[in-house]
Amino acid sequence: MYRKHTCGELRIAHAGQDTTLAGWVQTVRKFGAITFVDLRDRYGITQLVFAESLSAELDEQPLGREFVIQVTGTVVERSNRNPNIHTGDIEISVKGFRILNRSSVPPFTIQDDTDGGDDLRMRYRYLDLRRNILKRNIELRYSVNRSARNYLHEHHFMDIETPFLIKSTPEGARDFVVPSRMNAGQFYALPQSPQTFKQLLMVSGYDRYYQIVKCFRDEDLRADRQPEFTQIDCEMSFVEQEDILNMFEGLVKRIFLDVKGIDYTDAVQRMSWEDAMWHYGNDKPDIRFDMMLCNLKKPDSVFTDKKDYIDLIDGAGFNVFDNAETVVAISVPGAAEYTRKQTDELTDWVKRPQIGMQGMVWIKCNADGSIKSSVDKFYSEEKLKAIAKACRSNPGDLILVLAGAEERTRKAASELRLEMGERLGMRKRDEFKLLWVLDFPLFEYSDGDNRWVARHHPFTSPKPDHISVMINNDPSIADPAQYLAHPYAQIKANAYDMVLNGNEIGGGSIRIFQRDLQEKMFAALGMSEEESLHKFGFLLGAFEYGAPPHGGVAFGFDRLCAILGGSESIRDFIAFPKNNSGRDVMLDAPASIDDKQLDELSIRLK
Ligand code: AMO
Repeated sequence: MYRKHTCGELRIAHAGQDTTLAGWVQTVRKFGAITFVDLRDRYGITQLVFAESLSAELDEQPLGREFVIQVTGTVVERSNRNPNIHTGDIEISVKGFRILNRSSVPPFTIQDDTDGGDDLRMRYRYLDLRRNILKRNIELRYSVNRSARNYLHEHHFMDIETPFLIKSTPEGARDFVVPSRMNAGQFYALPQSPQTFKQLLMVSGYDRYYQIVKCFRDEDLRADRQPEFTQIDCEMSFVEQEDILNMFEGLVKRIFLDVKGIDYTDAVQRMSWEDAMWHYGNDKPDIRFDMMLCNLKKPDSVFTDKKDYIDLIDGAGFNVFDNAETVVAISVPGAAEYTRKQTDELTDWVKRPQIGMQGMVWIKCNADGSIKSSVDKFYSEEKLKAIAKACRSNPGDLILVLAGAEERTRKAASELRLEMGERLGMRKRDEFKLLWVLDFPLFEYSDGDNRWVARHHPFTSPKPDHISVMINNDPSIADPAQYLAHPYAQIKANAYDMVLNGNEIGGGSIRIFQRDLQEKMFAALGMSEEESLHKFGFLLGAFEYGAPPHGGVAFGFDRLCAILGGSESIRDFIAFPKNNSGRDVMLDAPASIDDKQLDELSIRLK
């Protein structure tokens, strides 16, 4: 037996007992003839004291950082206790020790505030994972995993594995493909999600399925995206949207409770996609704070029922507003005292290419009730006050106004809102606000392909009263600039996203389960009959043999963990992640393969 206790286990109640510990040398400190060593393992740190009698042995076999050692000794009370660690009341008076393995000097310090840069730590990920901060993240990930499994098991969900080597049917992201040796010239694809398999399992009668499963997508990476990531993937039969929403907000609430001790008793807020876009400029709004958009122009045709706009800005001779498709404002509480330099800095901020605005107008609602703006020339004080009223501004607020093309302006206003929320400390890391966004458009128009694409995926059903719009209208678009006027732009889907603190943590839909409707859907997406049979014949076939009504959802497991852990970067919550160029710098993958392998696969490189 290598050890009797772990390095996080011993307390004052153990004083007087003999023990054996094993672990890694964190630090070695010499005080005269006495040597102190901090011994570390997964569970914590224990202080070891090597008395003078062991100094000859220590000289012979000196200990270094990250050496793996075994010590035997007696637990004794410490004279100067360390309240910062669980074992801080005791230390081990060492009787004997053994070096189990030596370590080279690590390329960076294995400490909370390490001196290692990102790249170096990724290259030596196995050392980085020894650090507390990553260890806590990996532990959190495991507790989310366990909590989800417990909840789903208690609700009769079955974990059923689905294949990784499947057929390429890119839609949304690009597929990763795998050449087949036994079928020369042919390729498997890695699944972007188990979507069609979980639907087939419903047809097979396994009415509650789940899987914590790897998904693969060849897309541009960001802090919250990895080429291989994990989903908590679920599907249920004989359900309506309401059943799904209830079941899965239950899942997330259970995870909050088990992992963070948060009893989230509030009902999860719900918002239509239109409301989200109208009030926040974003389909995943952060509702931890208000600062909602104020619409200063008549809505575009995407918004069918939006009446809460004011139209005070047209015709004042200010071309930027007069000619803009959309004019939106946010009222930033308490920021009227911003200096010229600060408003200029904000204007530069919205002009950055990532935000893409030409400029920004500000209106200061001074504390004394007066009003001042960067467009005083065009708007009377009375008009500015009317705008401030429409923006529900209070004295002391700073109104920021953006104008331009609909999509870009709304998106920029959303980014500005988030930025101001961040600057004003309104996006608290320890506050969690869940939101369901509902009633997404079924289709999105793809400029590049001049056709409709499925906003969620092609298996998502239209709202029942919108089915006839889909069936009775030709999908073709004569004038791409006018796509919003096409009836398809108004069709809403039985789809929902779960949003946590402004992040999309999950999404799903009620599915199409009749062959004829699914065929119509493929046709609406511009697929010929032949193509839809080639790609999805198996699913169309299955729908002929008694497919039950069904629906489901998938949560981004890495994202959920990162947010619960107070970070936006999912990399810190994945044991072996890829970097931003999709590389594993530890393995140095992807890498070329040798000619023999290529030959076996019947592949010649360009
Ligand atoms: P969707 O594509 O919305 O739905 O994915 C579900 C959730 O997975 C997370 N996610 C990602 N996380 C990390 N890296 C990525 N590259 C990445 N892409 C997505 C997000 C997202 O909300 N089959 C459907 C689900 C369904 O309809 O049931 C699907 O995959 O948090």
